[in-house]
Amino acid sequence: MEVVIVADAKAGGETVAEAMAQLLRRKPDALLGVATGSTPLPVYEALAAKVRSGATDISRARVAQLDEYVGLPADHPESYRSVLRREVLEPLGIPMESFLGPDGTAEDVLGACERYDRELAEAGGVDLQLLGIGTDGHIGFNEPCSSLASRTRIKTLTEQTRVDNARFFDGDIDQVPHHVITQGIGTILEARHLVLLATGEGKADAVAATVEGPVAAVCPASALQLHPHATVVVDEAAASKLK
Ligand code: F6R
Repeated sequence: MEVVIVADAKAGGETVAEAMAQLLRRKPDALLGVATGSTPLPVYEALAAKVRSGATDISRARVAQLDEYVGLPADHPESYRSVLRREVLEPLGIPMESFLGPDGTAEDVLGACERYDRELAEAGGVDLQLLGIGTDGHIGFNEPCSSLASRTRIKTLTEQTRVDNARFFDGDIDQVPHHVITQGIGTILEARHLVLLATGEGKADAVAATVEGPVAAVCPASALQLHPHATVVVDEAAASKLK
């Protein structure tokens, strides 16, 4: 595992955007796995700037979703499909036809999970998966004690994650869904390159457990230690508890 320590969130965004730009130069139709939440926003901004300046051609890239709330209509402003359309696809000029994501409104949720794993494999697999990390060490919505071999499936959010995410729902935890579809840890580990971005002091304990702790289901992100090509990009605050 490679650990890259940068000064701040903006530098983290630029570092990850540059890794994506290099991939797109090598493989213009790369499948980029993207995450939602606050941490990746500087990545998407830096990548959009590269596209606007003509330095990066993203016209053939494809984008895959990491996780989705169950039960939120696809056009709800906080469904992750809507969030990614707003924050990633539209600014980068990527059409919805190049987007892959699980159906959080499917009647047969289990079928939707299996279908999504199949679609990812049929698309040739994710080339670069961007990950954030929860304060409890979750990746995607694989909360602590998720199986390290898990596939895409339905999960119940912990109270802590619902509290953390209430800020996207006018601060009202009652509006935060209880269930999500998430790529499993085993699914995530199939991406060719994993890039975890963590910024801010609040992530310092989770980063230390990920990088220096044992590989253990209590810290799902520690599974990155098992991957042959994993990069952890952290700002100084998030790196502050590394030895
Ligand atoms: C969201 C996701 C989550 C977030 C994590 C950190 O798609 O996969 O694992 O990355 O909850 O969220 P932020 O970046 O908002 O601190």
